[in-house]
Amino acid sequence: MGGIPHDHYEPKTGGEKWLASRLPIVGLLYDTLLIPTPKNLNWMWIWGIVLAFTLVMQIVTGIVLVMHYTPHVDMAFASVEHIMRDVNGGYMIRYFHMNGASLFFVAVYAHIFRGLYYGSYKAPREVTWIIGMLMYLIMMGTAFMGYVLPWGQMSFHGTAVITGLFGAIPFVGGSIQTWLLGAGAVGQPALNRFFSLHYLLPFILAGLTIVHIWAFHTTGNNNPTGVEVRRTSKEDAAKDTLPFWPYFVIKDLFALCVILVVFMAIVGFMPNYLGEAVNYVPANPLATPNHIVPEWYFLPFYAILRAFTGDVWVVMFADWISFGIIDAKFFGVLAMFGAIAVMALAPWLDTSSVRSGRYRPMFKVWFALLCVDFVILAWVGSRPAEGIYPYIALIGATYWFAYFLVILPLLGVIEKPLTPPATIEDDFNAHYGKPTGTPAE
Ligand code: HEM
Repeated sequence: MGGIPHDHYEPKTGGEKWLASRLPIVGLLYDTLLIPTPKNLNWMWIWGIVLAFTLVMQIVTGIVLVMHYTPHVDMAFASVEHIMRDVNGGYMIRYFHMNGASLFFVAVYAHIFRGLYYGSYKAPREVTWIIGMLMYLIMMGTAFMGYVLPWGQMSFHGTAVITGLFGAIPFVGGSIQTWLLGAGAVGQPALNRFFSLHYLLPFILAGLTIVHIWAFHTTGNNNPTGVEVRRTSKEDAAKDTLPFWPYFVIKDLFALCVILVVFMAIVGFMPNYLGEAVNYVPANPLATPNHIVPEWYFLPFYAILRAFTGDVWVVMFADWISFGIIDAKFFGVLAMFGAIAVMALAPWLDTSSVRSGRYRPMFKVWFALLCVDFVILAWVGSRPAEGIYPYIALIGATYWFAYFLVILPLLGVIEKPLTPPATIEDDFNAHYGKPTGTPAE
């Protein structure tokens, strides 16, 4: 598929021509900023910019925090308290960074579920999707390692639990766990390497963001109809699109401002609302907190991890058939990573000929259930693994897998979708009326 036909940058002055023949960077920026963008994009297309902003905010606040932080088991906790009490504006920088992680995950979940509803993962955008999934995994790793740095009780015991999961891998698990921790238990080597990686990974994310943007600039954006921009001529393409600058830049900035008002209110008035009080107690290897709960953004997958207990028949069957190699703990680890893997495979599991969920009556219902399922899993992940909760987690986890592995492939065969509009222009005009003037240059 060729790109969307549009005007490209032409160097005019002697200086511009000189630079363009040596480094065509102005042309690249011009084409990126003025890329033709489907004019019917709705508010769910703002999250990419929110993510990009948050990534920059996390890097900037993180770099300032590092100026005052000490990655040593005897000093880490105190150095964070020093930031909070002594460093000018330190508490603010820390609260921005702490809550920035939550903003990042709110945005990424909205972004992912947007993609799942509008079929943004489907051909030809599989590479954008896979790179996105890789970024999501790196985000999770970064957030997990960042949480270790204040060296509070939850930092310490959370690390022990999560690295312990790798210990569940048959035969090599123990060695992998020791390799990850740099020692037989959580301690100075773990803190040092997590600090190093927590600093490094956001820059890898920044690099991947460029590749991600490159990928969807190659295919063009998806849009709420799932209908492609016409590529028959420059004139046709212009009827379906508007240049990214100024139209979408202003729209995205407006949305970002609204989101930042809410974010600032949280940072200013309830900065610890999403955190765990017990992490304000210095790490003590000898006293384990009553409930070890991960941060809210890990909860749905944490619930899936704990859903498959030893009395579930599939787990018993796996245990029996593998001669005890796949026990309940290892099954849980496989399920947790598998839950992300099936989402990454969505481009190949969705068999529908229609891309956008807007025109898929049956899909809409199952997708709504998936959203509810995600919330229920998050809730149940925060509950202790006893009583009714493991059953709820099991039903939630089963639905998650069923959605991707059974429902998505089947729906493409049995569902009768509605007919999407012929062009993006038709969809736009149906919503907003036919434009009377020409867009400003
Ligand atoms: C640091 C993380 C990320 C950043 C900075 C980022 C950035 C962006 C931006 C700026 C856009 C275009 C605007 C928009 O559609 O909102 C976009 C589109 C897209 N993103 Fe992401 N993204 C991130 C993570 C992800 C993840 C985790 C996924 C899911 C696997 C994903 C999947 C997609 C897809 C499929 C599109 C294309 C949508 C379209 O064509 O309209 N992204 N991303």
